[in-house]
Amino acid sequence: MQPELQRELVRRVLAHLERRTTDRDAGPTLLPVDAYLPDDARARREARLFRELPLAVAHVSQLPNPGDFLAHDATGVPLLIVRGEGGELAAFINVCRHRGTRVEQLPCGNKKAFVCPYHAWAYRRDGSLLSIPHEHGFEGIDRASRGLARVPCGEAGGIVFARPAPLSDGESPVLDAAAWLGPIAGELAGFGVGTGAAYAPTTKRKQLSWKLAIDIFLESYHLRPTHRDSIYPMFFDNVATVDRVGAHLRCLFPKRSIASLAAQPEDTWELRRHANVLYHLFPNTLLLVEPDHTAVLHLWPDGAAGTLLTAYTVVPEAPATDKARAYWDANNRILYDATDEDFAMGESIQRGLASGANREVVFGAFEHALAHFHRQIDEHAPA
Ligand code: FES
Ligand SMILES: [Fe+2]
Repeated sequence: MQPELQRELVRRVLAHLERRTTDRDAGPTLLPVDAYLPDDARARREARLFRELPLAVAHVSQLPNPGDFLAHDATGVPLLIVRGEGGELAAFINVCRHRGTRVEQLPCGNKKAFVCPYHAWAYRRDGSLLSIPHEHGFEGIDRASRGLARVPCGEAGGIVFARPAPLSDGESPVLDAAAWLGPIAGELAGFGVGTGAAYAPTTKRKQLSWKLAIDIFLESYHLRPTHRDSIYPMFFDNVATVDRVGAHLRCLFPKRSIASLAAQPEDTWELRRHANVLYHLFPNTLLLVEPDHTAVLHLWPDGAAGTLLTAYTVVPEAPATDKARAYWDANNRILYDATDEDFAMGESIQRGLASGANREVVFGAFEHALAHFHRQIDEHAPA
């Protein structure tokens, strides 16, 4: 993040501390509880978000070399992301163009070619069809149009994005991820997210709507009661900045140590030492920038009212010693213990919503990041 933006955010926080305020909208807003309840029509509508928008699917460090690949299934479309001969990234639907079998079975690795397990049609790293066993049976079939179906793919700020629907006619296979992120792309690059290594990939399943799973990260109103004995002592009670950046959000949760900056020259201020910066990349990715690492979390719809969490931590370099691993593992434990406290509340909400007690949930004026998120859902997946 650019130094001037860091200083501006610190100034905003210091002003809030002085006036005992926080970022807020004019007033509270309501959201019908239907937004979170299992509903086929709504699920079909929201499925568009996961077919039509750029989705974060990998960290660049997971595919450093030509031939490196990653299978990705959480979007609902089986994807195969590949680093090509020239270093370029491409993403394909991991489905054979003969009769539709899943082509690559491994979660990741490095290959010269991808061979379907059924009849052994083989595809090159660029997705083109390499060979058909007993090809005499397929005369007249156009090989050029039988490569793996390509989907747009691109990277920005160290994060790889794909849009899991086949290219339309004439569409570029290069997804303009920087345009989608806007200023956030440069901010992530400034935080070194692209130069680190993805450590400790993690998967969890939770019994709550993916939208509730996002909501619980987007306000600091809950910090004191929910995290009283864990992380709250480091933070303030309900102090945050919230900025809408296109469809996305930049939230800042200051730590108590930030108050000390008021007495120090602005050009020595280091934002991430004194605040957690949380980016919500619409629709379903969160990046939590901490002093020396960044946690990347994706919340995917999983059945009628479930969430699949996939996550990893970007650390400055892949840990090579037990000591380094123990350090990052301890960091991750703090993160996941705190998020389990959050998910327990979210799962409680999911159960409570079905009771009929509430027709709407209320977002307080300082919970306006949640209102923005839900508005974006309606805008990008209209009824
Ligand atoms: S379905 Fe893949 S080779 Fe037949
Ligand atoms: Fe929390």
